[in-house]
Amino acid sequence: MKRTTLTQYLVEQQRKEQAVSAEVRLLIETVSRACKAIGHAVSKGALGGVLGSLESENVQGEVQKKLDVLSNEILLEANEWGGHLAAMASEEMETIHRIPNRYPKGEYLLLFDPLDGSSNIDVNVSIGTIFSVLHAPHHASGRDVDEDDFLQPGVRQVAAGYAVYGPQTMLVLTVGTGVMGFTLDREMGSWVLTDPNITIPEQTAEFAINMSNMRHWEAPVKRYIDDCLAGASGPLGKDYNMRWVASMVADVHRILTRGGIFMYPRDQRPSGKKGKLRLMYEANPMSFLIEQAGGAAHDGNQRILDVQPTTLHQRIGVILGSKEEVERVKRYHNEA
Ligand code: AHG
Ligand code: MN
Ligand code: MN
Ligand code: MN
Repeated sequence: MKRTTLTQYLVEQQRKEQAVSAEVRLLIETVSRACKAIGHAVSKGALGGVLGSLESENVQGEVQKKLDVLSNEILLEANEWGGHLAAMASEEMETIHRIPNRYPKGEYLLLFDPLDGSSNIDVNVSIGTIFSVLHAPHHASGRDVDEDDFLQPGVRQVAAGYAVYGPQTMLVLTVGTGVMGFTLDREMGSWVLTDPNITIPEQTAEFAINMSNMRHWEAPVKRYIDDCLAGASGPLGKDYNMRWVASMVADVHRILTRGGIFMYPRDQRPSGKKGKLRLMYEANPMSFLIEQAGGAAHDGNQRILDVQPTTLHQRIGVILGSKEEVERVKRYHNEA
């Protein structure tokens, strides 16, 4: 059986489609190598001394888990010296990380959520890494990149993807020419293309939302979930199933695999007005993947990929997945 590896796939994308530059190819290879290292640390668990929390808090006001910090370090170290980046930004770092002067600088910006699903680490449930790649604006050449250079809408992403550390370790990637899923072959150490051209079924009967926040939701979200819960005799005419892993990576991976809708909507709490998930390294890369797979993603008002960011760590409401369902929730927002 002929096996296509990530390396081969990227070379072909460069050669045939001109979808990636040599620098982006190196960048993705480097990120995927870092994800292998993170996955290895994750799988060691207590044996590797990687479980549990640290004393520190990140800029989000969250207590950092050991693996949040370790994964962040692995990604920084892997990507610093290759010459493909101008700077990086991460959930776990307050400000951007410029490439140190001892290394050559490249044209790209890398953003990541080094460890997604932190609350699931110590309970041995799937977690992941999310990343997004932007081009550094032209005027940035010759001077130091600053935070403003990162504030580009998601439509400008050059590549995006995630690794999921679950029963299998997988890398799901888009360079703007569809969504490809690779499974880590641990013996060979290579990512093998197992899920080419992933597409999301347009219709679905499965929703994902943290129901404990129901009392805080805005009316259109409440209306949609009420409709789902009404089942076959309700306005949607079918019985819905519910799933909530609480790792965005795992929930999105399920949706890319068998369809569904994922919502972490903004809500009426003072802390929820802008949503929980972060635009630049959670919502944007996932929305790029979802759209590339034929799905849709919006925040209640607009397409997530069109949102002009104003700050690096800004949050946003997220509604994404199978097209028909997402369009319906959008309609409920318009009607409200
Ligand atoms: P992170 O672990 O990177 O901070 O992200 C956690 C996010 C996301 O993965 C998930 O969808 C959501 O938080 C879960 O939130 P709840 O615990 O409120 O359900
Ligand atoms: Mn976090
Ligand atoms: Mn996350
Ligand atoms: Mn995280």
